Amino acid sequence: MTISHSAIIGNSIRDACRHLNNQEVVAIPTETVYGLAGNALEDAAVIKIFEVKNRPSFDPLIVHCFDFKAFENYAFDISKAAENLYNAVGPGPVTYILNKKPIISDLVSSGLPTVGLRVPNHPLTLKLLRALPYPLAAPSANPFGYVSPTTAWHVNAQLGKKIPYILNGGACTIGIESTIVDFTQDVPVVLRLGGLAIEFLQSVLGESIVINTTSTSQPAAPGMLHSHYAPSKPLFLENKAAHFTTLEFETLGYLGFDKRHPQIPQSQQLLLSPNGDLSEAAKNLFAHLRAFENLPISGILAANIPERGLGRGINDRLRRAAFKST
Ligand code: TXA
Ligand code: MG
Repeated sequence: MTISHSAIIGNSIRDACRHLNNQEVVAIPTETVYGLAGNALEDAAVIKIFEVKNRPSFDPLIVHCFDFKAFENYAFDISKAAENLYNAVGPGPVTYILNKKPIISDLVSSGLPTVGLRVPNHPLTLKLLRALPYPLAAPSANPFGYVSPTTAWHVNAQLGKKIPYILNGGACTIGIESTIVDFTQDVPVVLRLGGLAIEFLQSVLGESIVINTTSTSQPAAPGMLHSHYAPSKPLFLENKAAHFTTLEFETLGYLGFDKRHPQIPQSQQLLLSPNGDLSEAAKNLFAHLRAFENLPISGILAANIPERGLGRGINDRLRRAAFKST
């Protein structure tokens, strides 16, 4: 079926199920960002996800399940550490990398022997997952390399013409993608900073966890390429940017944390959290980056965010968004 009109945006589990059962892809809400979901056990649906997203096939998909017990259907050797983390977090912004069972196809894992499993903490999507006899493969519902969507309207603006249905669960409460932890090594290895703070991970798993989010030509989490999460305008990091002249400041947008920029026009400034709250900042990050697209500016200057809690995940995304510009 070719879909040329905009997607239907609604909150019907039954409609979402119908499309998914027809091997269509449907956008779903999660607490982190919206996902572009398809039946993880059907190659036809998985291929469609890659096509709609224009995603390279070397970048594996996360498989969404309705509870931790379901992980046993898709992975071997689920470690005690993974179980401890799930007991502490429950459904939440963590993706568990585990050794995959053959039921997960190489298309989903991009040929890796592992699979990323996650239980998203969103009531509508948990209800959907409970209603389906299969788990949902879902990358973030944005064209590859672009900023992730945190509302149904963001999804519709970019992918609405390519998908039949967007399950509308409101604005995402966390706003940046899940923290990815690899549980197949001797110690847990964090592959992506995200919606669960490292400090919390350390309090549950101990200080020995390793953080390895560096990108190489064959990154462990291939989506963690240097240049990612990029808005279409160049983004400069305040602590790295060359000095701008007064005239240049007139043409820039400013993504501040809690303070405005003294030289950039007020109407071109957006603050992530006027009260300096890192969770609020994460929640606003992608929507603010999108809002700059419609302002008459030539580029975005982004403030340095405190490097703690969710601030680490925010800075990680800003660095990747800036990579093309520096
Ligand atoms: O919060 C999230 O995780 C969102 C929502 C929709 O669940 N999903 C998401 O998916 O961010 P995506 O595809 O945009 O990012 C998934 C990341 C990619 O960097 C991918 O390389 C990595 O997860 N990944 C998936 N499976 C992996 C595996 N077996 N080993 C290492 N990295 C993996
Ligand atoms: Mg993504």
